[in-house]
Amino acid sequence: MGQKGKGFASMNQFPFDTTSRARRLRSSAALRTMVRETVLSVSDLIYPLFVVPGKGVRSEIPSMPDVFHHSIDLLVEECRKVLDAGIPAVILFGLPEYKDERGTGAYSDDGIVQQAVRSIKSATPELLVITDVCLCEYTSHGHCGLVEHGETLNDATLPLLAQTAVSHARSGADIIAPSDMMDFRIAAIRQALDEASFLNTPILSYAAKYASAFYGPFREAAQSTPAFGDRRTYQMDPANLRESLKEVTSDIDEGADMIMVKPALAYMDVIRAVREITDLPLVTYNVSGEYAMVKAAAANGWLDERLVTLELLTGLRRAGADLIITYHALDASRWLRNFS
Ligand code: PBG
Repeated sequence: MGQKGKGFASMNQFPFDTTSRARRLRSSAALRTMVRETVLSVSDLIYPLFVVPGKGVRSEIPSMPDVFHHSIDLLVEECRKVLDAGIPAVILFGLPEYKDERGTGAYSDDGIVQQAVRSIKSATPELLVITDVCLCEYTSHGHCGLVEHGETLNDATLPLLAQTAVSHARSGADIIAPSDMMDFRIAAIRQALDEASFLNTPILSYAAKYASAFYGPFREAAQSTPAFGDRRTYQMDPANLRESLKEVTSDIDEGADMIMVKPALAYMDVIRAVREITDLPLVTYNVSGEYAMVKAAAANGWLDERLVTLELLTGLRRAGADLIITYHALDASRWLRNFS
């Protein structure tokens, strides 16, 4: 036609078609909104909470600004705020009064998480309560299972995880989320839940959970740093992608209802790869170290916390996550209300 790019003398020299212009659909806020491919919504967010013994406790965790240890009475108030913000779910972590070698506090019916779940479900029954199932916050050695001669035992740990899951369900937990990374724990927990008649309690599996240095602030908050060694014999090697697909596939075969990739930001390729092999709801955990990095940079005035956080969370949705566990959930719910 010879007319392409007409009006720009120099354009006629371009050896390609200039009919299509990417900038056309970016020219106004309304247009950008209309063609936006990924939408971040408050209903995609899950808020993590730490519960501690005592009364009237609300103490900030030093490495996680604006995140608190709450005693049950104040935790219930916090949950009301979460519900009012439109966030559909919380995930609970407990710090027990005592720790022992077998992590008894994890599966005792009057354990800290069990008590907290009962209180939350009676005060705000509409708020979904997810419970993290693991032994590391409850064992004196800080490992996620039973330890013998320095080794974290797999099969011997399974009954304790199953018992923990059942006691959470009995307290009213809506979703059970095992984070220990023992092999076959999904099968063991599903069987135990079914035998206890919790046929309809879903399991959210921390399926692809990496041995990550980004859990540092959490371990300080949960006082769950291993007393010796590390978690590399059960959590995944950060260098592996194919292995995550194997973990996800076996957890689905064992009965997982939802799948998690954790951490989030350094693992977006894993989120995408997992998205492509399953239609189950896919959750990612924007972990403590990722949160701490943003907070530290924002405190120094180096990054705009609101814009950076919304960009990161949107990126996780774009990578393929349906739901995001994030310490920024309450802030994000506020920002999303007046974000354009
Ligand atoms: C317990 C657990 C951990 C996190 C969630 N569940 C710590 C760990 O595996 O060492 C980390 C969460 C975070 O860093 O925000 N096993």
